[in-house]
Amino acid sequence: MQDLNKLWKLFNEKFTNTGLVKGAFSAPGRVNLIGEHTDYNEGFVLPMAIEKEIIMLGQLRKDREVRVFDLVYNVEIDFSLDKLISLRKNIWANYLMGVMDEIQKAGYLLQGANIIFKSNIPQKAGLGSSATLEVVTALTMTKLNSLKIEPVKMARICQQAENNFVGVACGIMDQYVSCLGQKNYALFIDCRSNDYELIPFKDPNYQIVICNSKIQRGLVNSEYNKRREECKIATGFFKHKLNHEIQALRDISIDEYKIYQSQLPKVIARRARHVISENRRVQSGVQALRMGNYPVFAQLMIESHQSLKDDYEVSCAELDLLVDLALKQEGVLGARMTGAGFGGCTVNLIEKNYIDAFKKNIKNEYKKITGINPDIYITLPAEGAKVLELR
Ligand code: GLA
Repeated sequence: MQDLNKLWKLFNEKFTNTGLVKGAFSAPGRVNLIGEHTDYNEGFVLPMAIEKEIIMLGQLRKDREVRVFDLVYNVEIDFSLDKLISLRKNIWANYLMGVMDEIQKAGYLLQGANIIFKSNIPQKAGLGSSATLEVVTALTMTKLNSLKIEPVKMARICQQAENNFVGVACGIMDQYVSCLGQKNYALFIDCRSNDYELIPFKDPNYQIVICNSKIQRGLVNSEYNKRREECKIATGFFKHKLNHEIQALRDISIDEYKIYQSQLPKVIARRARHVISENRRVQSGVQALRMGNYPVFAQLMIESHQSLKDDYEVSCAELDLLVDLALKQEGVLGARMTGAGFGGCTVNLIEKNYIDAFKKNIKNEYKKITGINPDIYITLPAEGAKVLELR
């Protein structure tokens, strides 16, 4: 937890007190346990919020100006709520502007604010840092302006900010879990209905461990959008072939897939197979966790990685290496890449007693082969976006 008093001190040094309402807010990053590239196919996902967060402090202003100081890069940006235009430099500010734009478009009235924020979520590591910045901004602006926006609606506003203002066609998973995560639970989200169920994830014998490959997700935006397009093509094909109503790959059964797959271009068939099988894995995984069966869940994680690597082709050599190394370690039940892919992190399910040996071995072996020092984070499922102490 970052030191709030120190942050308030900095805030007070940066900005003149406007005498209006102040507040401190936080939102967590996320790791996806299973259900990758299924959210934008109206499918199922099972992420959890992690113990890494962005803290934002804000005070309302009398005018429509926003002044933001980013403690990650030590940069200040000023803009007006009447003129929200995306920037080419300091693109982090686009996440804030995008959220404010979407809140206003949804019909809410905003006043300006002075803001500072600080993050301990590694960037471009597939741990949801962009979504978290959106969510903490949404919470800050709604609370300071005394608005009432339900968490699911807030997640949707944040997703739209990223789609419309930042220009990344992401699904809703990251924003959703950052808004609604809960301690000791993973979130089983139905990305069609936007309903969720809390799935207990707190067996004292097991631990989630995240390995950061330190490969930054370079290709991610263009390849991400390409995968979305490929899924659309597959959906169109099945819609044409089958008589019943097909809205998304979510609606295709494995049997239907098997009957028609040979008529699809090979690449499209593989993309569809990943999404269709991944949805089943999430459902089986949730079933296993409801019964406390971690080994079965872990096996599904391993299968998920294989499918992301071979069928969806969003892994990379370093992520595959981290998974292979992990699965050779004693006490490791499951390992897979997490997030959009092309770099970033793996998520591992490990017996608690073996964590120290795991950390030591992975660090040594990964460094020996790649020359890179990986980062390793141990985390419990954390709480979603929240108000910190008010002053
Ligand atoms: C990124 C997106 C999510 C989701 C994942 C892949 O994190 O923001 O919406 O599509 O990739 O599962």
